[in-house]
Amino acid sequence: MSTRTKLIAGNWKMNLTSAEGAARVESFIQHAESKEDVDVVVCPPYLALPKLSEILKYSSVKLGAQDVFWLDSGAYTGNVSARQLYEFCVDYCIVGHSERRGRFGVMEVPESTVGYFGETDETINLKIQALFKYGINPIMCVGETLAEREAGKTDEVICAQLAAGLKGVHPAEMHLFVAAYEPVWAIGTGKVCDADEANRVCGMIRTWIAENIEVEAANDVRILYGGSVKPGNAAEIFGTSDIDGALVGGASLKPEDFSAIVSAA
Ligand code: 13P
Repeated sequence: MSTRTKLIAGNWKMNLTSAEGAARVESFIQHAESKEDVDVVVCPPYLALPKLSEILKYSSVKLGAQDVFWLDSGAYTGNVSARQLYEFCVDYCIVGHSERRGRFGVMEVPESTVGYFGETDETINLKIQALFKYGINPIMCVGETLAEREAGKTDEVICAQLAAGLKGVHPAEMHLFVAAYEPVWAIGTGKVCDADEANRVCGMIRTWIAENIEVEAANDVRILYGGSVKPGNAAEIFGTSDIDGALVGGASLKPEDFSAIVSAA
């Protein structure tokens, strides 16, 4: 087990209104605040950020966004900048989620209608740099599809995503960085990656950072696992050497489940 502070982030994706989100937070905030040795983050849709920012103003529970645009302002209809997130005391921001890369574990609408939201390795890198500029912690998602895993390409795909996403990043900026290993085939599918294998991949990510950025940064960086994390499998995942927490989707919408996962950490 590592000595890094565990981090549990709830990715609400496109769920809950602002009012519903406020009620959810109120129902688990006390429990989360009582776990002083765990960092807890909620990542609601953009529209809920102002209300949750008010509620969490004096709380140890931190606020996260689900995406960001890399410029401060301009003619980029529908986008939100790091500068605008900063105004609402957003501390974390998910970057490069597989659903934004157009790689889905579960596809509920025709693929042609969703596309890939314009997310590329290059934009992920720009977004990370923009977040560093405002002192916001990027949670960069990496992970392979089922086809890539079956073709034995898991490590190759993830190293390529890391190399592109972290291009030009300075070791001194790495204290803000969080990685999340999210195998695409485990997202929303109920298929959780075996804890030993998830730990092996997270260890591989740590080694990549040690060899390509800095050994100290690699020792300190928090690497989360995401993909069908539930109260029933959380303890096993958190009992490994290289997994420092979880990026939780579906279970983060249920206050009892989210609280149980925080307790397991
Ligand atoms: P689930 O926990 O619903 O599988 O989602 C994981 C995820 O995508 C978190 O970002």
